[in-house]
Amino acid sequence: MTLKGRDRMLSQQTIDIIKSTVPVLEQHGVTITKTFYSNMLNKHPELLNYFNRANQARGRQQTALANTVLAAAKYIDNLQAIIPPVMQIAHKHRGLGILPEHYPIVGENLLAAIKEVLGDAATDDIINAWAEAYGVIADVFISIEEDLYKEAEQNGGWRLFKSFKVAKKVEENDLVSSFYLVPEDGVKLPEYKAGQYITVRVKVPGDEYTSNRHYTLSQPSNKNEFRITVKREDAVNPIGVVSNYLHEQVKEGDSIQVSAPAGLFTLEENNNPILFVSGGIGVTPLNTMLQTMDLGRQVAFVQCVRDKKAVAFREQIEKKVNDLNGSYRVLFSDENGYVTKEDLTPFVKEYTEVYICGPAPFMETVISIARELGISGENIHFEFFGPAMSLEAQSNAN
Ligand code: HEM
Repeated sequence: MTLKGRDRMLSQQTIDIIKSTVPVLEQHGVTITKTFYSNMLNKHPELLNYFNRANQARGRQQTALANTVLAAAKYIDNLQAIIPPVMQIAHKHRGLGILPEHYPIVGENLLAAIKEVLGDAATDDIINAWAEAYGVIADVFISIEEDLYKEAEQNGGWRLFKSFKVAKKVEENDLVSSFYLVPEDGVKLPEYKAGQYITVRVKVPGDEYTSNRHYTLSQPSNKNEFRITVKREDAVNPIGVVSNYLHEQVKEGDSIQVSAPAGLFTLEENNNPILFVSGGIGVTPLNTMLQTMDLGRQVAFVQCVRDKKAVAFREQIEKKVNDLNGSYRVLFSDENGYVTKEDLTPFVKEYTEVYICGPAPFMETVISIARELGISGENIHFEFFGPAMSLEAQSNAN
């Protein structure tokens, strides 16, 4: 993907102002993001239909959006360099139904926050330069997202959300259930790649706004149904509000809103040996990838879980790994602690590609072990947890 035709020309003076003010603004990142969010959501409460209040409660989203604008601004004269992480975010935005008309709202409130933080130092030149730079960055997102909306429409026939019926609900273990979803309009589903996710939009009773969550598709593509596999979170409000609602209140026959499959965490098209390393419910995309692998491909699967109760898909993984003559290990952190270099060493060969999915600290550990084992950055693949990782981290790993 290139940005040809999408760049707006910025003057050298604007570029210089942006580059010289980014470090100051980054120092005040937390204040900017807090001011930005609370002002924006006060003025535009309708946006609470989009933002994940659980991520905000965890302090994640607060840092993600505004910090990404600041990080992108560093590359204002070479936006091509940040296309890979922008693509990942654009997929999430497309799944959530973020539209061009939302961008000026974010821009206006971000500029106001920058002004508030810089105080007297915020000269007209500085504010105008940031307004221009934000416009350029926003245009990049808007045009990539428009391409993704068109693609969704062409492949599956719908742009935003459509109604699906819960055809079947199956308990995988005490904490994890799968939901089989069929489109109410009966239209065949688009083909998707193992590792992609759908976004589910629900209105939890008693809640004024809708809640959106991304869930990985937990079985290989099929034209009739999607399957998602959801872990029930411990805390109910707001962190586990959707997972608890799905587990406790959604029944077979109920209707939920779903957007078309999205995401870039998918298997590379080559024949290198694969090592999957999952933490907790991060097993979901990796199991779907495993199930789509052709015979003859070398594979090892290391599934890390807290305890025996938390193991999902064990039989399925065991069967497919056996069919592929591969290796499968389940590690229990309650008994043996976190995964170590020694646990993974036996499964790393020349050209091994490692796919990692799990909670952010788990992924950081496994990524650094993979590097210690000599696996090169382009062979380490992980789901980009935007709120937890910076653009730089993403660019360096890929
Ligand atoms: C240039 C402008 C923008 C940038 C740089 C940006 C950046 C980001 C980033 C880094 C994430 C985290 C992605 C992840 O979870 O993997 C995100 C998510 C999100 N963005 Fe944006 N964004 C922008 C514009 C917008 C706009 C205009 C809206 C709509 C008002 C929006 C709404 C959201 C929502 C709802 C999420 C998911 C948050 C959550 O559910 O926790 N973003 N964005």
